Amino acid sequence: KLAIVIAVDGPAAAGKGTLARRLAAALGLPYLDTGLLYRATGRRVLDRGADPHDAAIAAAEAAALHPDDLARDDLRGPAADMAASTVAAIPAVRAALLDWQRDFGRRHGAVLDGRDIGTVVFPEAPVKLFVTASPEERGRRRWLELLSRGVAADAAQVEAEIRARDAQDAGRAVAPLKPAADALLLDTTRMDAEAAFATALAMVRSRL
Ligand code: C5P
Repeated sequence: KLAIVIAVDGPAAAGKGTLARRLAAALGLPYLDTGLLYRATGRRVLDRGADPHDAAIAAAEAAALHPDDLARDDLRGPAADMAASTVAAIPAVRAALLDWQRDFGRRHGAVLDGRDIGTVVFPEAPVKLFVTASPEERGRRRWLELLSRGVAADAAQVEAEIRARDAQDAGRAVAPLKPAADALLLDTTRMDAEAAFATALAMVRSRL
């Protein structure tokens, strides 16, 4: 049985989560959505009525994270998205979450999705995918997803929020969003979920 780490990174709403989950199921590996760690940290800071830019409070909340926090149903939406990205730019928050991610991956191997899995968390991972799509397409997908959940949103605003979050994630000093030098690039702009999965699985197999 495989006990390898597969890193899946990329910008917001590129379809990484769906893809990583399906790869994990196909390969019999555990799956970890690392964005949940930052989302839950941001949520805990907001719950305290604190500012997500407050490094000391955000680091304390990251260190106090409990597994139950990851299953909360209020981790998505414009405020939660931006709070996650803001606490994620704080070095002490990232440091507090690093060992947890490494331990998870090392135990039985894993597919992890995030922004810095291939560059920082598992730079030695044998397989790294960097999944992208155009900002317009990612905005459209997120907007459709909201619609399917009964949330009426403005398409232009959804795209603007995605662009703002990507800019913050790519522009930060520590562990910025970027492909690892040895990552395989997968642009899903013109692919449906099925084609993206088939292409990703072929890419993974080419590296194993
Ligand atoms: O992947 P998701 O959109 O849920 O991530 C939420 C936020 O968490 C991202 O915008 C990013 O700022 C942060 N994040 C990160 N590193 C990761 C995963 C997520 O900085 N590995």
